[in-house]
Amino acid sequence: MNDFEKDVERILITEEEIRARVQEIGNVISKDYNEDNDVVAIGILKGASIFFADLVRAIKIPLIFDFMIVSSYGDSSISSGEVDIKKELEFDVHGKDVILIEDIIDTGITMSCVRKIMAGRGANSVKLAAFLDKPTRRKVDLHIDYLGFTTPDEFLVGYGLDYAEKYRNLPYVGILKREIYE
Ligand code: IMP
Ligand code: MG
Repeated sequence: MNDFEKDVERILITEEEIRARVQEIGNVISKDYNEDNDVVAIGILKGASIFFADLVRAIKIPLIFDFMIVSSYGDSSISSGEVDIKKELEFDVHGKDVILIEDIIDTGITMSCVRKIMAGRGANSVKLAAFLDKPTRRKVDLHIDYLGFTTPDEFLVGYGLDYAEKYRNLPYVGILKREIYE
């Protein structure tokens, strides 16, 4: 075990479990779309980068890539329910079939806003693929079309998820030791 893996309390989801689940989701998505669709896979950076890279390779239909960086104002009273777009899309999603690819849904505020933004721009369809879901923390209604795993309310790192920008490169999902963030 190297130094930074010592910060992980325990492994919640192994590399093997992730690989199998991502393939399953890719198969389902591949069946949900056909040649009439004009699919754009939108990765929400940076957290979704690893999931995005694995998932798009498991999807057996033509698609294009785009990326966004968004940050939610969370539940702050000033602008609850709004997101700040830090990096805008390259392409116009009007008429496109959008698949939003996100690392984890917590309060749901970020992706509920992004979904509305895509619909507002005239996307033909908008679906959400989320690697992880922490349903106990939800503050807004949000439908997840394609989900990897439901997780307990713990602070998770690895497979793209960070704490203070670290741990994204762990190949599994781990529970971060409380002493690291408390
Ligand atoms: P929300 O659903 O708007 O609350 O925001 C979800 C975002 O919070 C994700 O994209 C992550 O960036 C971050 N997040 C939530 N829970 C965790 C966690 O356990 N580990 C790392 N990042 C998390
Ligand atoms: Mg994120």
